[in-house]
Amino acid sequence: MINELLPELTPKIAAFRRDIHAHPELAFNEKRTAEKVGDYLEGLGLEVHRGIARTGVVAKLSCGGGGGAIGLRADMDALPLKELNTFPHHSTHDGRMHACGHDGHTAMLLGAAEALSRLRDFDGTVYFIFQPAEEHEGGGRVMVEEGLFERFPMDMVFGLHNWPGLPAGSFGVTEGPVMAGTDRFEIEITGHGGHAAMPHQAVDVVLAGSALVQALQSLVSRNTDPLDSAVVSVTRFHAGHADNVLPETALLGGTVRTFNGELQDALEEGVRRICTGIEATYRVGIDLRYERGYPPTVNAAAPCEIAREVAQHVASDGLVYLQLPPSMGAEDFAYMAKVVPACYVWLGNGPGEGGCMLHSPHYDFNDEIIATGIRYWVRLVERALAL
Ligand code: NI
Repeated sequence: MINELLPELTPKIAAFRRDIHAHPELAFNEKRTAEKVGDYLEGLGLEVHRGIARTGVVAKLSCGGGGGAIGLRADMDALPLKELNTFPHHSTHDGRMHACGHDGHTAMLLGAAEALSRLRDFDGTVYFIFQPAEEHEGGGRVMVEEGLFERFPMDMVFGLHNWPGLPAGSFGVTEGPVMAGTDRFEIEITGHGGHAAMPHQAVDVVLAGSALVQALQSLVSRNTDPLDSAVVSVTRFHAGHADNVLPETALLGGTVRTFNGELQDALEEGVRRICTGIEATYRVGIDLRYERGYPPTVNAAAPCEIAREVAQHVASDGLVYLQLPPSMGAEDFAYMAKVVPACYVWLGNGPGEGGCMLHSPHYDFNDEIIATGIRYWVRLVERALAL
């Protein structure tokens, strides 16, 4: 039983967590972390694959003859942030910090790998996925592009993130969208500059840009189902220097956020369509640079049902939130969830007192939730790959 292993396992995993907290590494440079992770997994006798998406590690554990397979994913990277905590395990690398708890995610998944390899109370294959570069750089996307799911076929994949503000050891399990998709765009409009008194001899980029801003607002208000959530914001509009000169160019920029992949596609298409229309209508040239960020993270029904059931068994005081609103933050687990049915849950990290919030220089992962996290992973595997 997992509960008998935890008194021995938890302090060891907490010590591992504090060690990597003290040695944070940034996106795709998690060399020391990945080496320690790989060595730990090899020490358990698992089949270990290193160097996927540069510093990513995948380990395989099979038990019985079952053909089912699932993946459990943790992230390993830290943030470019100066830690302001002074406790003994504070960062030893100036300007780098585990301010999002990926140290805790990595350590808990290692704890689960050890427990599962000792208990062997399931039937099938579990892949432990340690990904690099969750923050901004899309290490999850690179793993998928490098054939994660072809090399390691799995029926479902699960992710977990600690969540300050939720009671320690509680869970948030939400079916459907949990994290937003975030895109950004920059639009350069080119016309013909001229005298403000003779606009007929110029091509006015200020007028074209104003019409563009207005038209972009129709994407959400007139082109999106009112029951879907989306934001299109133009946040920059730079043009002109003088009261009597019509400028030659205007530069606009902004962001698009959604909780639905199809809507994300439709909004990009809409931004492009409107730019083309404004070009024709106002005789300007438009250069649109539309940059796709992380897609929305969407939890599928079947893995979500399993996660919910398991969370209800292992949560502190049985506290499981099923109706939390999704976060406008983004998460690159989304790239995995686009390919394989997935569920990404929040594990309460306790109150955000003293600035203990994600990406804060005062943040620290709460070691008291390690046992709950390990128990969640172990039970999840035993439930999804039941004997
Ligand atoms: Ni994070």
